[in-house]
Amino acid sequence: MSTTNKHDSGAPAARVVPVDLGDRSYEVCIGPGVFAFAPGIARKKLGDKCRSAFVVVDSGLPEAASQRAVAALRASGLNATSIALIPTEHDKSLQSLGHIVTEMTRRKLERSDVVIALGGGIVGDLAGFAASVYRRGIAVIQCPTTLLSMVDASVGGKTGVNIDLAGDGADLKKNMVGAFHQPIGVLADLDTLATLDDRQFAAGLAECIKHAMISADFGDPDLLAWTEAHFSRLSKTNAPLLAELVQRNVAVKARVVAGDEREEKDGGRALLNLGHTFAHAIEALPGARGVLRSGTELPGDIHHGEAVALGLRAAAHTSVKLGLIDASYANRIGALIDAAGLPAKVRGLPSADNLIERMSHDKKHIGGKIRLVLPCGIGQSRIAENPEPSTVCAAIETIRAQ
Ligand SMILES: NC(=O)c1ccc[n+]([C@@H]2O[C@H](COP(=O)([O-])OP(=O)(O)OC[C@H]3O[C@@H](n4cnc5c(N)ncnc54)[C@H](O)[C@@H]3O)[C@@H](O)[C@H]2O)c1
Repeated sequence: MSTTNKHDSGAPAARVVPVDLGDRSYEVCIGPGVFAFAPGIARKKLGDKCRSAFVVVDSGLPEAASQRAVAALRASGLNATSIALIPTEHDKSLQSLGHIVTEMTRRKLERSDVVIALGGGIVGDLAGFAASVYRRGIAVIQCPTTLLSMVDASVGGKTGVNIDLAGDGADLKKNMVGAFHQPIGVLADLDTLATLDDRQFAAGLAECIKHAMISADFGDPDLLAWTEAHFSRLSKTNAPLLAELVQRNVAVKARVVAGDEREEKDGGRALLNLGHTFAHAIEALPGARGVLRSGTELPGDIHHGEAVALGLRAAAHTSVKLGLIDASYANRIGALIDAAGLPAKVRGLPSADNLIERMSHDKKHIGGKIRLVLPCGIGQSRIAENPEPSTVCAAIETIRAQ
């Protein structure tokens, strides 16, 4: 798989990463201003029958950004309308799905029209799921606006919503209902990141560290070293470095997805769950708080990327205990997570046994047994079936804040 730079006259310069999935293949365009490509992608993939674009906008984006997007679509001759969604895990729900598809029906979207998901991972997952079920499936262009959704959530076609068993968020089952629905294009417009807050930017770096921990088996064995070497200069406003970071991370994800689109193979897409079995259990804990290495407690709910960072630490500790990696490698990972300003520990954890019990309910687990993805070498990870609970307990204790 190759990645190339593309300069179309009059269009913004973009880096392009192909996602090779046969007749479901598409390109991820990365660069400032690449939203301008949206009408062209719709026309190229859907033809003249595509008359309307329905933009699902993240309410966290400045209004000017969504107005610009709708104006660009209208200027191309598309009948563009939008709705705004407040992206919370609570609202990543069947109710919100119902609201979106009702609005699509009200606006008479045809099967040949297009949905544009403009926002972070929550909006991408929701709008993508709505596109997958509306009229049994219409096209979606993913336009991620957080670092996390650029490097991870927008690529690969996983869409879905959470199920809130208790009704008050106390027993939230993440991504329980969903569909595989590949987009017809992904536009990672780096201009949008300017308004992202620093904590959300750091959350995206957690998924980049995860990719670096599997990258040796997916065509980029130097990604960890490159990330370490450039980490201190990475920022929302360093567009050239950001473009390289996003391109390399998307390329890793694209190779994983191309080899195992529906997560059916060992050593394939399941490896992207590195850190996530811990993370899903941690982020579903009401009242849990992230704590930085300095001892500062982060206010409010733990963000998805922050929970992933905690999960990566716990996975690395588990691997050290099992003799899969040296402590020096776990320390390298820990140092990157600290440098990103991601939590070192979590306050409000239940007992380790209770957390393991919650982890065993993760939908990825069969028969209540735990399946963890664990680092096993530099840039390499693998699946461990049912690791010794006492080892996992010991790893959980290393991320517990008193
Ligand atoms: N489908 C997948 O493969 C996949 C992969 C990873 C994560 N996810 C999902 O993605 C979600 C997390 O995504 P996320 O980290 O993007 O969080 P998010 O969608 O909650 O967005 C984070 C916050 O940033 C705000 N925001 C978005 N873009 C902004 C911008 N440009 N400027 C200012 N504010 C902006 C949002 O309003 C929100 O408050 C989780 O639900 C997770 O399960 C899905």
